[in-house]
Amino acid sequence: MPSFDPVAVRADFPILSREIGGKPLVYLDNGATTQKPRRVVEALSRFFSYENANIHRGVHSLSREATDAYDGARAYLKDRLRVPATHELVFVRGTTEAINLAAHGLAPLLREGDEIVLTIMEHHANFVPWQVLAEKTGAVLRFAGLRDNGELDLEEWKSLFTPRTRVAAFTHVSNVLGTVNPVAEMTAFARERGAFVLVDGAQALPHGLDDLGAVDADFYAFSGHKVFAPDGVGVLCGRRELLDAMPPYQTGGDMIERVSVAGTTFRRSPERFEAGTPNISGAIGLAEAFRYLEGIDWAAARAHEHTLLTHAAAELGKMDGVRLFGTAPGKAAILAYHYAAAHPHDVGTILDTEGVAIRVGHHCAQPLMDYLKVPATARASFAFYNNHEDVEAFLRAMRKVERFFGP
Ligand SMILES: Cc1ncc(COP(=O)(O)O)c(C=O)c1O
Repeated sequence: MPSFDPVAVRADFPILSREIGGKPLVYLDNGATTQKPRRVVEALSRFFSYENANIHRGVHSLSREATDAYDGARAYLKDRLRVPATHELVFVRGTTEAINLAAHGLAPLLREGDEIVLTIMEHHANFVPWQVLAEKTGAVLRFAGLRDNGELDLEEWKSLFTPRTRVAAFTHVSNVLGTVNPVAEMTAFARERGAFVLVDGAQALPHGLDDLGAVDADFYAFSGHKVFAPDGVGVLCGRRELLDAMPPYQTGGDMIERVSVAGTTFRRSPERFEAGTPNISGAIGLAEAFRYLEGIDWAAARAHEHTLLTHAAAELGKMDGVRLFGTAPGKAAILAYHYAAAHPHDVGTILDTEGVAIRVGHHCAQPLMDYLKVPATARASFAFYNNHEDVEAFLRAMRKVERFFGP
């Protein structure tokens, strides 16, 4: 039975007991990467200590075991993430590679003057591949803007669709604003108009939004390292029919049917897109992370994250010269802000002297920074293992910044 005990979960993450410069680590950079539960670390250690072998090509026992573990990880994740029967789960390096793969595969289907609908809140990973694709094919990009609270302007977004719209790509959760987009509604709308849909789920799964079946996009992408799993592994969940019609992204071993000097034929998905030795341990670690997350009651965990976010935002908002970005209802626990008296890098550096890890900069969302008319922001991003002491330490550290730079 899933449950949520905010005290108990902290003990599952060894790194949270670390000190930084003699102060307890306060890790609020979960949007960049999340920490790994002991269970995932142990699964990796077990694999490398006792189970390591290359997959698919070996007749020996160890190779068969490793193959079963890798294929088993895929089967488990398909079931766990409710991947529709019409879809395949391709292991990739992460969200960035997943989106590049999809954009590369869609290139032959685009003609000059076709349109790609994006939003202004996209991470560069869901922006640049489409921009490059547009340059290559002569397609045109269209961008939807935001409401004052950081919500997507859905009416504007819908108005961008024309008979030439071929692709709609949007994030599930904004990595800066925390806005949770109504992705199922958006997917249905775009698909009804004949567009291929890609959803960037990098910031959604870490907050328990992991029902890929409910979204039912043509493509859904996410990264392992942001969801308590190892780095270097991620997922592109894609409609099988579409994947099988797409040209391979990389070629080489394991993805071929037959190679001869006359030519090569390719396997179907998912192998078609997994050329070479994949990240075997990464796939195993990813499945282990989701097994761990199965024990979490996400309604309770999200409510806990939300309490931390609202308290931090309310207190921060009282500081003179602080502007908060993203106040949409039901937003994920991501708090981006700008403190007028200090550069975000100075804010981040002073917070670090207090053991508080946040992110500062453009968060790989420069078009959004331009739109918001700020060069950079500070960002505290929470996970279910954060607690009220973390928020208090963060606020104390911000008051130190205020003493340094304030009026
Ligand atoms: C919304 C979003 N999309 C994509 C990415 C890229 O993920 P990765 O660097 O793991 O490929 C990130 C990373 O911060 C992100 O927040």
